[in-house]
Amino acid sequence: MKKRIAVFISGRGSNMTVVAESVQNGILKDLCEIVLVFSNKDGVGGLKNAADMGLETACMESRFKKREEFESQLLQLLGPFNIDYVVLAGFMRILSPLFIRAYKNRIINIHPANTEEFQGVGAYEWAFKNKKPFTEITVHFVDEGVDTGPVVGRRKVELNGVYTLKEVETLGLKVEHEFYSEALRQIFSGEFKL
Ligand code: GRF
Repeated sequence: MKKRIAVFISGRGSNMTVVAESVQNGILKDLCEIVLVFSNKDGVGGLKNAADMGLETACMESRFKKREEFESQLLQLLGPFNIDYVVLAGFMRILSPLFIRAYKNRIINIHPANTEEFQGVGAYEWAFKNKKPFTEITVHFVDEGVDTGPVVGRRKVELNGVYTLKEVETLGLKVEHEFYSEALRQIFSGEFKL
């Protein structure tokens, strides 16, 4: 049975787009279907891209809402979709235990650094400012901490000879795009087990 997934975004959604392409025509085709693309921000590019790809979309602003209020409304919204996995792709809102317990061991995230070295937002800035010779893109399950959950895999991004933050982001994002679908394939096929 194909896994039913919801992809959560907050912005341009380039990872969502690449994952959706893998679902439509690539390595995720027989393993899952995207039943919903959800954004906590209205009017973002990723929502339009998802709709253009024929995907169902939903949006609920999280701004000015208390965490529990937002998440209990989100849980209600998701209920009818019978979602197996939530795939975070640039979702810029920390999820509280209320949500995480409802989808325990079924929420996956991509983080643009080694999660043991750097957690939270601004990972590419961190790598750039600290002149890191490389960074590592991490795909991990989400637990109740921030970027602390079990690691599915990491991919190295060489940063030697890279002089601008823009270049760091471009190189990193390219690896994110290559790696996320592959990591999801490992999970949904059962090749990777928690
Ligand atoms: C990516 O760098 C992702 O790793 C981070 O936020 C960025 C989102 O980019 N969590 P996009 O919306 O997928 O283009």
